[in-house]
Amino acid sequence: MDRILVRGNGPLDGTIEISGAKNACLTLMPATLLTEEPLTLTNAPRLSDIRTMSTLLQSLGAEVSGLANGRVLAMSSHNIDTLTADYDIVRKMRASILVLGPMLARFGSAVVSLPGGCAIGARPVDLHLKALEAMGADLELRDGYVHAKAPTGGLRGARIAFPFASVGATENALMAATLAKGTTIIENAAREPEIADLADCLTKMGAHIDGAGTSTITIEGVDRLGGATHPVVADRIELGTYMLAPAIAGGSVELLGGTRALVAAFADKLEATGVEITETDKGLRVARNGERARAVDVVTEPFPGFPTDLQAQMMALMCTAQGTAVLEEKIFENRFMHAPELIRMGASIDVHGGTATVTGVEQLRGAPVMATDLRASVSLILAGLAAEGETVVSRVYHLDRGYERLEQKLGACGANIERISDDD
Ligand code: UD1
Repeated sequence: MDRILVRGNGPLDGTIEISGAKNACLTLMPATLLTEEPLTLTNAPRLSDIRTMSTLLQSLGAEVSGLANGRVLAMSSHNIDTLTADYDIVRKMRASILVLGPMLARFGSAVVSLPGGCAIGARPVDLHLKALEAMGADLELRDGYVHAKAPTGGLRGARIAFPFASVGATENALMAATLAKGTTIIENAAREPEIADLADCLTKMGAHIDGAGTSTITIEGVDRLGGATHPVVADRIELGTYMLAPAIAGGSVELLGGTRALVAAFADKLEATGVEITETDKGLRVARNGERARAVDVVTEPFPGFPTDLQAQMMALMCTAQGTAVLEEKIFENRFMHAPELIRMGASIDVHGGTATVTGVEQLRGAPVMATDLRASVSLILAGLAAEGETVVSRVYHLDRGYERLEQKLGACGANIERISDDD
């Protein structure tokens, strides 16, 4: 298994190109199941999660080819030959559940294994299922699988009021509703940019959608959808992660393709720590010179609030900040698994339930540490940039799920970082 070796090496200087969003791509790909015509995604990130989704779609009979070095995904679902999403693939990635709504809407039935994914709390899929039930689906949970059937004549438009603005449940309901009979209104819909991006793509395919990106989405079902070509929106979590690199290591980095609107709440907090953020022609420039960052408190919330997917990385910055910061995790329980690893590097962190209190230390020290989930693993790399000596992060496969060419991107800015393969 690969490991990543980071040596704290002083300020960073350079540019980093932000890739297409993993989470947007993972919901745009299943949209291919809604149509027999080709769907092509450009600006796709090259990540293991995207390969897992390709494998899942291919297992159903869809054609998925990576063109232009994997940046373009050409997909076609004209020849779907099974409606069962198997446990062996689904267990690798929770986003696999996103094939359920589209298959049910177009083919009238689907069997999907209950998902696995990052070990960050219970993460049920009840809201996905309730939304589809509201549209008339008959669902049965048997042997770890959801067996779903649409009523005769197909799914029906419905009023769906989510008790919590779940990203995945909103995406599943939105895709299913595009082919349902009549009007669907999704209330308390998630407002993440990935949802607006999905709605843009579905609209190009011929769907009638109003209000995506707000908390009420209205969908008029249509009889069929057609093909489209769509560029994947920039990855706001990758953007935020690399904004933290100069914040932690010092220096100045320009993030190409980043916009402040994608990370507004996070950018406000980062500025409050004393980091400078400026908009450039091509993206955002982030700089910290001299002074240690100041501690700021953070509460994670659904978009447009501070993203849970940047909490671990922000904690890495707080570990070396001046003062004490309180980080409150409101989206997932059990999402502080990076804290014991950061403590191995000399951080001072106290976790109580969903709250972590971090008192900044002047200097972190390199240590062997273990990645426990995707965002936790990158927080350890960020901490390594500011630590004295060597940090070796093992279980890097978590990182490869969501960060494309991380060593090259950071290395190009002067970071001392390398991948160690066991066969080296
Ligand atoms: C998506 C993102 C993930 C991000 C999360 C929150 C993808 C592929 N993943 O995950 O990176 O951390 O949004 O921004 O886009 N919940 C239920 N029942 C459900 C669904 C969710 O109780 O049926 C709960 C979850 O356990 C969690 C909360 O709702 O506590 C948020 O989950 P949700 O917004 O659905 O996250 P995902 O779509 O899984």
